[in-house]
Parts: sequence; structure tokens; C-alpha cells
Amino acid sequence: MIEILHLSKSYGSHTVIRNLSLHIEKKEKVAFMAPSGCGKTTLFRLLSGLESPDSGSINANPSMAYIFQEPRLLPEFTVLENVMAVLSGKNKRERAQNWLLAVGMAGHEQKYPDQISGGMAQRTVLARALASEKEIFLLDEPFQGLDDESRKELIALTGNLLKNQTLLLITHNEEEARALCSRILYFEEGMNLRAEVHT
Ligand SMILES: Nc1ncnc2c1ncn2[C@@H]1O[C@H](COP(=O)(O)OP(=O)(O)OP(=O)(O)O)[C@@H](O)[C@H]1O
Ligand SMILES: [Mg+2]
Repeated sequence: MIEILHLSKSYGSHTVIRNLSLHIEKKEKVAFMAPSGCGKTTLFRLLSGLESPDSGSINANPSMAYIFQEPRLLPEFTVLENVMAVLSGKNKRERAQNWLLAVGMAGHEQKYPDQISGGMAQRTVLARALASEKEIFLLDEPFQGLDDESRKELIALTGNLLKNQTLLLITHNEEEARALCSRILYFEEGMNLRAEVHT
């Protein structure tokens, strides 16, 4: 499903990813843990094709939904319209409403991104990612900044709704990694794999 071979990426003289190889199976749930600045987001940007590697290769199913580290909603669209924007086919409004209901955003459909809280924005980007019906989900610290209760709720929800998808989760939170992933990868500088744990 995802095959990364000898991947390297530098910015100027700073090598962010050095010779990384990784294989991820279909439907696998993998957590990426590493100190800040080690290159986790850079790896996701390479996987999703937003950036190109200097060397090495990535072979992956292109059906990917990417939840960015900062929730990115279209500011001129309502919550509902943000979700509808990724849908095609019939009954877009109803389908978008159902995804919003699933993430606990019912009743907020007509609000604009600047009228909702950070946690609500995170729920909305999750609804939008789910609505896109992709096979691979790249989640870059999707639960940061949420209160404990919302975090737990959204983690459980994500686990339930992504059962049949491949999940790559960047997190600094061990508990979150264990709740959602069966394989936890610990990286250090240069995205060198330091340890791997199967839960
Ligand atoms: N476009 C860019 N130009 C120059 N340097 C960059 C660029 N993007 C990232 N970097 C650098 O690459 C390194 C890795 O950044 P990255 O955002 O991938 O880290 P991260 O592991 O996601 O960190 P965090 O946990 O804080 O989100 C950092 O030193 C960063 O400054
Ligand atoms: Mg990052």
C-alpha cells in the first residue's frame, strides 16, 4: 500500500530525512512519534505529493486524505459547505450533514470557520476527510489543543470510522498512539527509525 525506499529530503544544507525506508500494509494503523522538528510533517508532505524528494522513492495508493497540522477550512465557506466541497454525486447536502453529525457538529452547519472553536474546526476537518472516502488517511497531530473529554471522544470516533482504512498518525501523545495504532514508530533526527513497538 505504501512503500518508501531510501527517501531523502534536505532544505539547503539541512538534511531533514536521511535514507528512510518503510513499508506500510493496507489497513495498517501506524503512529509516527519524534521530537519536534525531526521531519514528520515533511514526510507527510512528501507522501501526499506536496513536496518532491531529493532521492529515493515513494510508491503509494494516491487515494489519500490529509489532515494538516493546522486545521485548514475555507474561510468563506460555512462548516457544511466545507464538507460538501469534497463530495461529488448526489445528495451532497444530506451526506455532508451526516458526516457532521458523526463528528458531533450537528447544529453548527451554517457557521463560518471564524465563528467556531479550534476543537470544532478539528471535528470539521475530520468530517471533511472522512467524507472524501479515501483509502489512506494522513493525520498530523489532529487532536492537539482539545480538552481531555473532546480528545477522548474524537479519538474513539476516529478509531471507529477508520477501521477499514490505512491510518498514518503523527502525534506527540503516547496514549493517543496506543489508542489508535497497532504499530508505533519512534524516530530521531533525520527521521532515523529508533524503535518500533507493536501494541
Ligand atoms: N519549506 C521549508 N523550508 C525550509 N525548512 C523547512 C521547510 N519545511 C520544514 N523545514 C524544516 O525541516 C525540519 C522539519 O520540519 P517538520 O515540520 O517536518 O517537523 P515536525 O517533525 O513535523 O515537527 P513538529 O512536531 O514541531 O510539527 C524543521 O527544521 C523545519 O524548520
Ligand atoms: Mg509537524
